[in-house]
Amino acid sequence: MPRLGRRRRWSLRTRLVVSAVTLIAVVATVIGAVTTLALRSYLVEQKDQKLAEAVRRSDRDPGYDLRFVGAPGNPAGTVGGRAADREAPLGLAGRIDRQTPGAPLGGLDERQLAALSAAPRDGRPHTVALPGLGDHRIQASADGRTVLGFPLADVQDTVTTLIWVEVSVTAAGLVAASLAGGALVGVALRPLRRVAATATRVAGLRLHRGEVAPLERVPDTEADPRTEVGQVGAALNRMLDHVHAALHARQESETRVRQFVADASHELRTPLASIRGYAELTRRGRQGAPGAGPVDTGHALGRIEAEATRMTGLVEDLLLLARLDAGRPLSYEDTDLSLLVVDAVSDARAAGREHVWHLDLPADPVVVRGDPARLQQVLVNLLANARTHTPPGTTVTARIRKDGRDAVVEVRDDGPGIARDVLPHVFERFARGDTSRSRQSGSTGLGLAIVHAVVTAHGGRVDVTSAPGRTVFSVRLPGGAAPVDSQAGHRLVTRP
Ligand SMILES: Nc1ncnc2c1ncn2[C@@H]1O[C@H](COP(=O)(O)OP(=O)(O)O)[C@@H](O)[C@H]1O
Ligand SMILES: [Mg+2]
Repeated sequence: MPRLGRRRRWSLRTRLVVSAVTLIAVVATVIGAVTTLALRSYLVEQKDQKLAEAVRRSDRDPGYDLRFVGAPGNPAGTVGGRAADREAPLGLAGRIDRQTPGAPLGGLDERQLAALSAAPRDGRPHTVALPGLGDHRIQASADGRTVLGFPLADVQDTVTTLIWVEVSVTAAGLVAASLAGGALVGVALRPLRRVAATATRVAGLRLHRGEVAPLERVPDTEADPRTEVGQVGAALNRMLDHVHAALHARQESETRVRQFVADASHELRTPLASIRGYAELTRRGRQGAPGAGPVDTGHALGRIEAEATRMTGLVEDLLLLARLDAGRPLSYEDTDLSLLVVDAVSDARAAGREHVWHLDLPADPVVVRGDPARLQQVLVNLLANARTHTPPGTTVTARIRKDGRDAVVEVRDDGPGIARDVLPHVFERFARGDTSRSRQSGSTGLGLAIVHAVVTAHGGRVDVTSAPGRTVFSVRLPGGAAPVDSQAGHRLVTRP
C-alpha cells in the first residue's frame, strides 16, 4: 500500500495539521451545502407565493387573451399562455421581454411553447426549463386553461453568489487554519523535539568502556507527567537513571576486580620472595660459594615449607571466594549448628590454650539448611580471629540462639576490639589491621570476606559490633527458608 507508506513518512506535525484542516473542510462543506439548500428552497417558496397570487388574479380575467401576463407586479421574463381547455395545447402565449408598462409582449418560439404546454396543469407550481429562457416556476389556474410562469434566474443568481462566497471564505479559512495550526502544533511539539534531541545526544555517547560521566537528562520542565510529552521525558529520565546505575555498577565491579587481582598478586609476592631467598641461600651454602657463611638448611627448608603453606592457604581462600562470586551452588543439607559450634570451639581451644573459651548453646539442637563444610569454615574463621587478634587471657564465647525462624550464631570476645579504621571495611577483601601481631600470625585479610560471602550465599547476614572489651560477630541464618542471592548482606554497628 504505497499511499499508506507515504502517509506514514509524514511528520507528526504535518499529519496533525492535515487532519485538522481536512476536518474543518468537511464541516465547512456540510454547513455550506445545508445553508445553500435552505436559502434556495426559501427563495423558491417566496416565488411560489407570488406566482399563486398572480395566477389567482388571472382567474378574474377570464377573456381569451394575454392581458394577465403583462399585469402589474409580474416580473420581467414572466411567461403565460391560454388554452381552450385543460387538455388542449396553449393557443396563446407571450412573455414580458422588458419591464416597461404598456410595452407589447414578446412571443415564444415553437420549442418554448411546446415546453410551456407540456407543463403539468394541476394547479401546483413546477420547475420547467424553457429552451433559451432558463428555469421557470410554472403554475396553471384551477380550470387548467391559464398557465403562468415566473423566471428563476434571480434565485439562481443569489444561490450562485452564495456558493462563491462560501467557497472563497472556506478556502481562505483553510489556508489560515493550516498556517496557524502548523505554528501551534510546532510550539506544542517543541518539548518533544527537545526530548528527542537529548535521547540522540545520549545515544551518541560511548558507554561501553571507561569512566562513567553523568548522563544528560531531559530538563524537568519537559518531564511533567501530566502531559504526554512529559511522560516520555520522565520515562526517558528513569531509563537514563537505570543506565547510569548499571554503568556505575559495571565500573565499580571492574575496579573491584582490578583491585582484587592487584591485592592478590601483592599478597603472593611476599611468600614467593622469601621462598626464593631461602632457596638461594641453601643452594649457595651447598656450593660453598664465597661469602656464604654456614647455612642452617633445616631452618631454611622449614621457612620455605611455612611460606608455601601460607601461600596454599591464601590461594585456597581466593579460589573459594572466586567460586562463591561465580555463584557456584552450595551443597545444602540439614545441618546441626550446635554440633558444628562444639567442634569448632574444641579445635580453637586446642589451638589457643592461653584463651578462655565458653560455649552457650540452647537445650535443643539448632538445625538450619546449609553447606556444613562452608558453615564450618565461617566458625573457624571467626574463632581464629578471636584467637589471633586478641591478647592471651581473652575470653571468647560462642553462642547459638533462635530468633523466630532464624538461627543466630554469635562469637564474642573481650579483647581490644577492631581498629576504628578497619571496622567499616572489615568484610572487604584484604582488609586487615596492620599490626605486627597480625603480620606474624599470617593474616591475609580474607577470613571475614569469606565469612560474608558464605553467609550471603546462604541468604543470611553477618553483623559486627566492636568496642574495646567487647567485639561481637553475629551470623544470622534463615531457618528452613530457601537461600537467596544477595550482595549486601552485612551491617556495621560501632559503639564509641
Ligand atoms: N575478634 C577480633 N578482634 C579484633 N580485631 C579483629 C577481630 N576479628 C577481626 N579483626 C580485625 O579484622 C581484620 C580482618 O579480619 P580477617 O578478614 O579475618 O583477616 P585476617 O584475620 O586474615 O587479618 C583483622 O586483620 C583484624 O584486624
Ligand atoms: Mg582472620
